[in-house]
Amino acid sequence: MTTVIDGKKVAASVIDKVKAAAQGLEEAKGVKPGLAVVIVGNDPASHAYVGAKGRMAKECGFNSVQHTLPEETSQEDLMRLVASLNDDPSIHGILVQLPLPKHLDSEPVIQSILPEKDVDGLHVVNAGKIAAGDLETGLLSCTPAGSMVLVREIHGKDLSGLNALVIGRSNLFGKPMALLLLAANATVTVAHSKTKDIAALARNADILVAAVGRAEMVKAGWVKPGATVIDVGINRVPAPEKGEGKSKLVGDVAYAECAPVAGAITPVPGGVGPMTIAMLMANTVIAASRKAGHTVPSF
Ligand code: GUN
Repeated sequence: MTTVIDGKKVAASVIDKVKAAAQGLEEAKGVKPGLAVVIVGNDPASHAYVGAKGRMAKECGFNSVQHTLPEETSQEDLMRLVASLNDDPSIHGILVQLPLPKHLDSEPVIQSILPEKDVDGLHVVNAGKIAAGDLETGLLSCTPAGSMVLVREIHGKDLSGLNALVIGRSNLFGKPMALLLLAANATVTVAHSKTKDIAALARNADILVAAVGRAEMVKAGWVKPGATVIDVGINRVPAPEKGEGKSKLVGDVAYAECAPVAGAITPVPGGVGPMTIAMLMANTVIAASRKAGHTVPSF
């Protein structure tokens, strides 16, 4: 029988640990973790994500702040806001929701966040620490860190002898995911749009991670029987069967056909998605604990 990996359940247990850590920090040091989320423009999907992050931060007992800036915000104004959040001692985590409107350059904005407040794990200092094999002193990118928690549910901490394939090479996910799998002793291959015969590579993978943003690209014939399949894609597609003009969310994996072949698989929604928010909360309480000189929780 295939194991369906319940991301909501695993995320809920991470959130329980975050709440306990936040409470312990407040009792010991009188410090409440502070998370500032910055959103520019009117993209409805981004607003939905940011709203969920803010609600979860409040539920965790954090000081949760949202800065909503108009679409026409200048690069300078956005950088000024980040600088003021860097200087604010009540803020321990800063997240600038991506993508930014086209006239803004996200890279200088992200790199201007203090690495110790970079709860997205996108600053070169944090990315570099993972690359150097230091998973302890920086902040890990939330979606790869959450995906690794799900991989650990199935395989434990040590992936020695297992072949992993990551499809996708973004800074936000593919690269850090490959490095985290490598740090756990997996034998890692990274495939991308210029790779020849991804299906053949996939059939050799004990752990198959898909993060390409193409609805249901991974087919049953790509999956090694018994493999663990982690689906990072969130694609909105038309769903005429639900009524005219309706849509639904699907992953990068053709779930219905791949699930019977896989040993374990994450659904979309309800797999990796809830883990991203949970790990953002985890990073925020880690950042706040470090700043206060308190015991740092691990997740
Ligand atoms: N947009 C989609 N995913 C993410 C994420 O993990 N962090 C940020 N900042 N923006 C995103």
